[in-house]
Amino acid sequence: MTLLLNRPDLMRSNNFINGQWCNSISEARYPVQNPATGEAFTTVANSTDADARAATAAAHAAFDGWRQQPAAVRAQFLKRWHALILEHTEDLARLISYEQGKPLAEARGEVAYGASYVDWFASEAVRTYGDIIPAPVSSKKLMVVKGPVGVVAAITPWNFPLAMIARKIAPALAAGCTVVAKPAEDTPLTALALVALAQEAGLPAGVLNIVTSSREQVSNVVGAWLDDSRVRKITFTGSTAVGKLLARESAATLKRLSLELGGNAPFIVFEDADLDAAVEGLMAAKFRNGGQTCVSPNRIYVQEAVYDAFAAKLVARVQSLRVGPGDHPDSQIGPMINARAVDKIEHHVQDALSQGATLLTGGQRLSEGVTNGPHYYAPTVLGDASHTMELAQDETFGPVAPLFRFRDETEVVEAANDTPYGLAGYFYSRDISRIWRLIDQLQTGIVGINEGALASESAPFGGVKESGYGREGSRYGLDDYMETKYLCQGNLA
Ligand code: SIN
Repeated sequence: MTLLLNRPDLMRSNNFINGQWCNSISEARYPVQNPATGEAFTTVANSTDADARAATAAAHAAFDGWRQQPAAVRAQFLKRWHALILEHTEDLARLISYEQGKPLAEARGEVAYGASYVDWFASEAVRTYGDIIPAPVSSKKLMVVKGPVGVVAAITPWNFPLAMIARKIAPALAAGCTVVAKPAEDTPLTALALVALAQEAGLPAGVLNIVTSSREQVSNVVGAWLDDSRVRKITFTGSTAVGKLLARESAATLKRLSLELGGNAPFIVFEDADLDAAVEGLMAAKFRNGGQTCVSPNRIYVQEAVYDAFAAKLVARVQSLRVGPGDHPDSQIGPMINARAVDKIEHHVQDALSQGATLLTGGQRLSEGVTNGPHYYAPTVLGDASHTMELAQDETFGPVAPLFRFRDETEVVEAANDTPYGLAGYFYSRDISRIWRLIDQLQTGIVGINEGALASESAPFGGVKESGYGREGSRYGLDDYMETKYLCQGNLA
């Protein structure tokens, strides 16, 4: 598998600060691996706190100029960027697939998905309306205007190397903020290509800056942003542990935070559900991106009366999934991102089996034929899962579907909510009263009702409880990058 691009110049390997591509000040580099083979195929800048501070200085200097641009000018930039992203779909998809592992067809879908946020926020940029408030006395006028929060630090994950950074940068730029960004250490190349296209779209120097760094340097880079009062907001997608750390460490400068953190999504199939639709919804939600998705169902509750029928249908569908490298035309599931990810999946499955789960299909690493690489794991279904198993407490983040039996609605709602997390929840039922009860009772920020594919640029994505706060996408997503300023004009005759 070789990485061939129509535009080889989209493969960038340096930081982009104040409109210039530059190596880390330390000149250090770190290797980027192809998850299909585990081999390093290029290096990128291994930035330190000095690079992070340089990025902040550039973003701070550019802020006034960018926020004072008419919203229509910022929208025009986003529209040009959107067009360039779509024009270079094939190259971006190849970069995603090569550094992250997902099949090319799915990577093309991610480009369209990420681009849709840029398009959405181009349209929203010109609708950041304020308000006129009826005053309690005739001598005053009360008004509200909205303005950008300032310099935003965007820290993004590896599972969607394009979509996650696009859905943070696009609303920030639309609102009039400037950005310093750090993509995940495993997947820097797609983000760098995206920034190269932003430069091509005519973004002024300093408005968008990006630095890459290895796992070992992350705390230095992010620490430089946390300590800096010029950075007014952190937007982060990743683990709850890191989200809590960011919340603690940014308290000294009271930054705004948007945290899209871990999930442990319940997926409930009631006995009155359309079982075929439930299986298809689960396939879409669970096996998208090989299960490496925050909204991926982690606990699948099936009511006793339909448990065996549902399990049989699911196993048949899962056994038809084809695993292989991203560039293989038949692949539906690629390699997992790295060795740590496969080790965790293997550990969760072994722990479940040792506690009485039954293996219905899968349950092992794959290392033969097209899956001859260190990071492939077979799509797996486990039966008779229970809440004492580690996979019930912690996201597996892999292609493992554990089935839990339940007797009644009260029991399953309690089990579904019995987690510190609350990102997404799904249920399948045809009983309208039950549907409204569940909507009310499920403690998640997103609810899929007879539907497995939830994400959309026009809808608010985000969680409750320890899955974080803030929303991405939709009109709510823009509010997260804006301050509300209250104006009171007095002494009117
Ligand atoms: C995520 O896994 O964090 C995002 C998934 C999505 O956008 O659907």
